[in-house]
Amino acid sequence: MWDPHQYALFSGHRGRPFADLLGRVDAPSPGLVVDLGCGDGPLTLGLADRWPQARVVGIDSSPQMLARARELDTDGRVEWVLARAEGWDPATLGGPMDVLTTNATLQWVPEHLDLIPRWVGALAPGGWFAMQVPSNFGAPSHVLMREVAARHARAADLAPGLARADAVAEPAAYLGALAGLGLEVDVWETTYQQVLDPVGAQRSPVLEWVRGTGLRPVLEVLTDETELKAFVDDYVSVLDRAYPRQSFGVAFPFSRIFAVGHAPTDT
Ligand SMILES: C[S@@+](CC[C@H](N)C(=O)[O-])C[C@H]1O[C@@H](n2cnc3c(N)ncnc32)[C@H](O)[C@@H]1O
Repeated sequence: MWDPHQYALFSGHRGRPFADLLGRVDAPSPGLVVDLGCGDGPLTLGLADRWPQARVVGIDSSPQMLARARELDTDGRVEWVLARAEGWDPATLGGPMDVLTTNATLQWVPEHLDLIPRWVGALAPGGWFAMQVPSNFGAPSHVLMREVAARHARAADLAPGLARADAVAEPAAYLGALAGLGLEVDVWETTYQQVLDPVGAQRSPVLEWVRGTGLRPVLEVLTDETELKAFVDDYVSVLDRAYPRQSFGVAFPFSRIFAVGHAPTDT
């Protein structure tokens, strides 16, 4: 279950990598643009703004996120489709894609490297595949989440849902996968030195960040208030040490991998 309002709390920080990703997509006037794992919609609507003539399709497995996206899409500009990436068949689009973006989603799709050939195979000649995934699964926010879960009374129930350290591949694996499919490829990794909550409005801004993403599987298990409080108290105390508040806010470095592939025009 995704909560679009919690996710949107840090929309500025979460939107920046998408802009950086799209900065490397040089498609002047694509006919069909698809956003796989479109979430609550603002970034997909940005694609519609960038390419006003394009047919834009947003695909996501969360009914809650898509409901929010439909609310935001007051002009009905985007086709919103409920589907899981694993089972989604690009042939249902009725034509080849000129641009396929997938931002901050494939870390939830363990077999995504195996699915990339199917998606790339559905690109039009000269089409673009652009993906971004977080690469922070070894960061304190995730390591501490796993440690706190392991010492919690419900440890056995929490373990299966936690993000694995190998949720995404190394940048070189994305380069190899896309180049091996004949694309011209641009892969890079960036660490954003994010500053959260500069005004000091949140008790633990890192907790609020992960509540919208990586902590969701924990929240789904810990529906009992006492069990949840035990987890949150323990987690916040270790987060405080890992991410201390400073005069300017809470520094929360965040690494991300980007991969952009351009299909040849003469296929
Ligand atoms: C972190 S959000 C990213 C949303 C949007 N792309 C953005 O950058 O703001 C991850 C999204 O992936 C979706 N998602 C997770 N697993 C998925 C799957 N297997 N298939 C399709 N969408 C999935 C979630 O529902 C959620 O909306």
